[in-house]
Amino acid sequence: MESISVGLLGLGTVGCGVVKVIENHQDKLMHQIGCPVKIKKALVQEVNKVRDVDVDTSILTLNPEDVLLDPEIDIIVEVMGDIEKTKEYLIQAIRQKKHVVTANKDLMAVYGPELLSLASENQCDLFYEASVAGGIPILRSLVDGLASDRITKMMGIVNGTTNFILTKMTKEGRSFDDVLSEAQALGYAEADPTADVGGLDAARKMAILSTLGFSMNIDLDDVKIKGITEVTGEDLQYAKQFGYTMKLIGYAHREDDRVEVSVEPTLLEDSHPLASVHDEYNAVYVYGEAVGETMFYGPGAGGLPTATAVVSDLVGVMKNMRLGVNGKSAVSPQFSKLLKENEEIYSKYFLRLHVEDEVGVLASVTSVFSRNGASFKKVLQNPLQEQKKAEIVLVTHQASLKNFEKILMELRDLEAVHLVKSTYRVEGGNA
Ligand SMILES: NC(=O)c1ccc[n+]([C@@H]2O[C@H](COP(=O)([O-])OP(=O)(O)OC[C@H]3O[C@@H](n4cnc5c(N)ncnc54)[C@H](OP(=O)(O)O)[C@@H]3O)[C@@H](O)[C@H]2O)c1
Repeated sequence: MESISVGLLGLGTVGCGVVKVIENHQDKLMHQIGCPVKIKKALVQEVNKVRDVDVDTSILTLNPEDVLLDPEIDIIVEVMGDIEKTKEYLIQAIRQKKHVVTANKDLMAVYGPELLSLASENQCDLFYEASVAGGIPILRSLVDGLASDRITKMMGIVNGTTNFILTKMTKEGRSFDDVLSEAQALGYAEADPTADVGGLDAARKMAILSTLGFSMNIDLDDVKIKGITEVTGEDLQYAKQFGYTMKLIGYAHREDDRVEVSVEPTLLEDSHPLASVHDEYNAVYVYGEAVGETMFYGPGAGGLPTATAVVSDLVGVMKNMRLGVNGKSAVSPQFSKLLKENEEIYSKYFLRLHVEDEVGVLASVTSVFSRNGASFKKVLQNPLQEQKKAEIVLVTHQASLKNFEKILMELRDLEAVHLVKSTYRVEGGNA
């Protein structure tokens, strides 16, 4: 091959990073693939926009077909975002026998299996390393690096915005709204932060991670989602007092081929490796039966970090082109999906209650727990400013989700309990 031509869909933060990585690392790319890589066309919304890279404006186009139908373009790099329109474009590209590299988790979490099967029918590669945890090569680590192992647990801090917010709230004692505004000003949070703070973005990434890690088609709808909007300064203070750190954790666990996948604010014991992942950083903790604990850490977003993942996928496609094996690396899931029932999901729980400050209340609360097979690991009671009210804060030993939900219902029915202020999952240090 004299050269390989790439068509970009999008030339924003990640697209510009891709151009820079290709330009700056051309020698290394040449060495690995044996020919130069050039960007032939880039689809954008506005041709005359000021961009982060100097590109010849003649390669910019507003017409998707200039990229998708160009017979000289071998590989499409999709870095424009959106779901439905992008799906249409990628279907068109794959039908033209073009390989695809995408950074789009929103698309892959919803249409991944459909697009991957279309790609392999057409002997095309469809790679999406950058869609989860930006610059961290986690998907390839799961699929190749840990191919010989049986992964039983993955825990991820896979959303930089929420990690930034929780870190600042914890370390600086600031409110959610205050830190969110700062994150928006710094460009760490979108103008509409709903998908990040509501947990949807992390859930999309966990659907992708658990599909690959457990070799089972996990849909977005299979992921239980709770965001961080209700986390308060008081919760974080109690967490600290008890030796925990609050993180938005994507949790995927397999036992006897049944799995649970969730995203929720979780209290981690301070000794857990994920408890020290701060600010906008991402990390994925993976437990394999043979390898034990591993952790992958790095920047989960940003133009250049994300572009390294995109361009590494490009190298993968180009190596496959040289070997003539495109479209052969996608493996269909080995297992049928089996989701755990609530009685099979076990965790420790943190709970804050507002109660009447009178004799016997703690005993009646305790009896609700013991009736439902749960006991306390830690408990404290503080008087509240409000007259004759107190706050009980406790952490349970392992209890099933089914029992915990029953406990909450029974507590809400107790006359002495005014309010269940907050509840969180608690995770310990080891698998
Ligand atoms: N940013 C990150 O750190 C990061 C990390 C991991 C994954 N990702 C994923 O990477 C993708 C791109 O993100 P980004 O941050 O680079 O986005 P971005 O800065 O908003 O860039 C999007 C680009 O796509 C173009 N575009 C958008 N909609 C279009 C349409 N309908 N028709 C033609 N062109 C269109 C825009 O054109 P104009 O420039 O003319 O407006 C722009 O060049 C997304 O799927 C995102 O989830 C991003």
